[in-house]
Amino acid sequence: MKPLYYILFFVIFGPRYIFFIICQNVPSPRSQQTSSLVGTRFYFFGGSSKIPTNEVWYIDLSNSFNISTPPWHSDVVMPVGYGLGTSCLSPIDNSSVFLVGGRTSIITSATTFYYAYISSVYKFNSKTSQWTTPTINNFNSSFTSRNEIQAVIDNNGKIFIFGGNDYFDSTTTPIFNYYNDINTLDITTMTWSTQTQPQSVFSFYGYTATLLPNGLIVYIGGTRGSNISTSSDNIVQIQVFDTKSYTWSTKPVSGSTITSRRYHSAVLTQDGNIIIYGGAIHNNISGGIAYVFSDIAVLNTNSWVWSVPNVSGTSAPPLTQHSAALYKNYMILAFGASSASILYTNNIYILDIKNYTWVTTFNIPTTTNPARQTQSNGNSSTDHDSSNLYIGIGIGMGVIILAVVLSVIGFFIYKNRHKQEIIATPGTFNT
Ligand SMILES: *[C@@H]1O[C@H](CO)[C@@H](O)[C@H](O)[C@H]1NC(C)=O
Ligand SMILES: *[C@@H]1O[C@H](CO)[C@@H](O)[C@H](O)[C@H]1NC(C)=O
Ligand SMILES: *[C@@H]1O[C@H](CO)[C@@H](O)[C@H](O)[C@H]1NC(C)=O
Repeated sequence: MKPLYYILFFVIFGPRYIFFIICQNVPSPRSQQTSSLVGTRFYFFGGSSKIPTNEVWYIDLSNSFNISTPPWHSDVVMPVGYGLGTSCLSPIDNSSVFLVGGRTSIITSATTFYYAYISSVYKFNSKTSQWTTPTINNFNSSFTSRNEIQAVIDNNGKIFIFGGNDYFDSTTTPIFNYYNDINTLDITTMTWSTQTQPQSVFSFYGYTATLLPNGLIVYIGGTRGSNISTSSDNIVQIQVFDTKSYTWSTKPVSGSTITSRRYHSAVLTQDGNIIIYGGAIHNNISGGIAYVFSDIAVLNTNSWVWSVPNVSGTSAPPLTQHSAALYKNYMILAFGASSASILYTNNIYILDIKNYTWVTTFNIPTTTNPARQTQSNGNSSTDHDSSNLYIGIGIGMGVIILAVVLSVIGFFIYKNRHKQEIIATPGTFNT
């Protein structure tokens, strides 16, 4: 009768195990990943927690969810461990993601890796989950180990990358070289081009880059790479690159005083506001995190005025080296470091930018999908979706239990018949 107890155990405790398995399908805490929004998927590539990872995860934004249980999905891993790089979604097919630069590494065990700059560009086809290393014409080898950059891509498929540093490993001298060049990659021809810039353009890394519809790239924050000064003044003197004329200008900005920082995140709203979140100040000597910000600041790119909005709801914690994307009216933050001691998190936080409110539920914006509005009216669609999930699990469980029960019954029938034969055999001898 023991198998029956096992079945009973499975029926009673099975659902908890399955729930446990679902809970395990969550990425481990990390920072320094790069991210791209592809349709309703917010992808995260690589990242680091003591050692780099080659994992690829995404959150599915096609359904509502509670931020404490984001709908995580893992995808096909990258060919290399990846951190401090940048990624751009192709505007040509809206499905290929190009990862450029970054610290790429070969992971040799759970605790060991080495930096191996095999390729400076990786292409991810999000439809087929395939990774390729594209051949690049005219590649400039000085870009090989470039990282701490943020690229933008224009509507024609031209990627623009400014500056960065070329950390290779801690044994090289100097450990970093800093750059102020503009590298471009035209993804329609896979052609690289490097433009050296005038001395007056500061070398920066750890900045954010935001492409405006008028072709201007706005570079905010970051660290001026001079080996001496690590704090930047470009929160008040913002460097702007014109992708049409290939010229630089400096925008004097006014309004609220925003503290200089690096490794913050920035998103562009439809009305031309750049919203930044978090970032950090690092110790000049040790390079370690000295302070992490949890503030929101808004740069109006029409008037070049900084402002600090009134924010309600429970704020996200301080975050640096995190990811951010704007999906409809939601600024979604993910992963990152919260302090010098909490270097890796796996939480996500959502700011409703319509009224600067931190929300705990991601609700499918109803304005663009009236059908969902009626569906979720009065009853949260999170519940609706999770009940669908449980129905799915229930059916799956049912099938498994049925299969187990049938095979156990089959086994008993077989065993009983066999037993009868065994018992019957000596009987025949006796008679
Ligand atoms: C989200 O989930 C947490 C943890 O399970 C729960 O405490 C909270 O009430 C939920 N929030 C909403 C809006 O359902
Ligand atoms: C903010 O706007 C959302 C709709 O976008 C609304 O549900 C929420 O109640 C508003 N919050 C506050 C504090 O006004
Ligand atoms: C919410 O769902 C419950 C049970 O499914 C139902 O009784 C109730 O009428 C629903 N409320 C609304 C506002 O649709």
